[in-house]
Amino acid sequence: MSETFDFIIHGGTVITPGGPVKTDIGVRDGKIAAFGDLKPGAAARKFDASGLTVLPGCIDEQVHFREPGPTHKEDLESGTRGAILGGIVAVFEMPNTDPATTTKGAIEDKIARATGRCWTDFAFYVGASPENADDLGTLERLPGCCGIKMFMGSSTGTLLVADDENVARVLRSGSRRVTVHSEDDMRLQERAALVAGGADVSMHPQWRDVETAVRSTQRLLALARANHRRVHVLHVTTAEEMQILAGAKDIATVEVLPQHLTLAAPECYERLGTLAQMNPPIREARHRDALWAALNNGVVDCIGSDHAPHTLEEKARPYPRSPSGLTGVQTTVPLMLNHVAQGRLTLQRFVDLMSAGPARIFGIAGKGRIALGYDADFTVVDLAAKRVIKNEWIASRTGWTAFDGMEVTGWPKATIIRGNVVMRDDEVLGRPVGVPVRFQETL
Ligand code: DOR
Repeated sequence: MSETFDFIIHGGTVITPGGPVKTDIGVRDGKIAAFGDLKPGAAARKFDASGLTVLPGCIDEQVHFREPGPTHKEDLESGTRGAILGGIVAVFEMPNTDPATTTKGAIEDKIARATGRCWTDFAFYVGASPENADDLGTLERLPGCCGIKMFMGSSTGTLLVADDENVARVLRSGSRRVTVHSEDDMRLQERAALVAGGADVSMHPQWRDVETAVRSTQRLLALARANHRRVHVLHVTTAEEMQILAGAKDIATVEVLPQHLTLAAPECYERLGTLAQMNPPIREARHRDALWAALNNGVVDCIGSDHAPHTLEEKARPYPRSPSGLTGVQTTVPLMLNHVAQGRLTLQRFVDLMSAGPARIFGIAGKGRIALGYDADFTVVDLAAKRVIKNEWIASRTGWTAFDGMEVTGWPKATIIRGNVVMRDDEVLGRPVGVPVRFQETL
């Protein structure tokens, strides 16, 4: 008797670890079970991927979904709905909620809230603080926890570990990779007077300047080495840090964001005002160029969205009372596919940054590549589709994107999570199937 499957994807070009292959994929029990020329009758459910490209499911390792707390901006349901519309199969959600995610109870509460309501698979960061620093080694290993997040500079919310002594305490506690928002809080406070009385938003990168980022990253790397702890530097924005990080591959991995790769000052502030305001800031073109160089020379390890929704009303407050953050979980795949279409990176590198990279950095079990035994997670894309990104398409409660009106080439046509087609042709299908992401045994 020939093999049977629960689900077959046929006719697509599949991006395997070895490159593009024309093959069908057989799925059983949510996992990839076979490749080759599979008989259409061998499965009850089929997906015709003719003319489409089947990528490993894209993973977003940095989103802020605001639950519990300011859920008028977002919640776990709306955030993950946006994610699947944008081709994302799993998200790692940040701890600067209200209350902040700093305890076992808070992680368990988030998992309980996520269960049955998340469209993607999920995991939650535990936020580092001087109060919980000594417990982080235990907290980081809770099921459904993707690791530690440390804010070295103040941003949205109250989480902060500003001084060397406490940064070192965090780095000594536990062994998984520590993700870091790297801005030097002492310098931020010193320079706050530049904008405190009101200023144009184009001052944002002058207040939170290059030195603020560089100083923090240098301190972080020295402390990481001294304490033998691997770190993941989030949303790197400066040419200077990329040079430093090229010499730190022994201890640090690097994330960049599509908004820092796509927009540049001063144009973004003139055109978008506070909609372009985020931490760390969008800077001049020389930094954007350096991020691209670092992306293509391999210093960059992954791309995340840093989806950080605030309502248009909140964003309309006069700077600096306007909150920092852009939506992004839904637009990352289209924006980066457009960069692929424009020749700025290869599709193979896209996959490395959006699937394999997060899996490698965080030790994700069974995701990040199309291979036998892996979860049947796929981002199915049309590389040739021309579409205009529009606010009306955005599922976020805030209803806006900084990329409204931008034409892109390349679009997510379907999102498949463990064999479930949850999005097809911009339509959400079925029910929220998300479960906690699993991680490899103790690294
Ligand atoms: O711009 C930002 N917004 N940067 C952060 O670090 C936090 C985020 C948010 O949660 O709003």
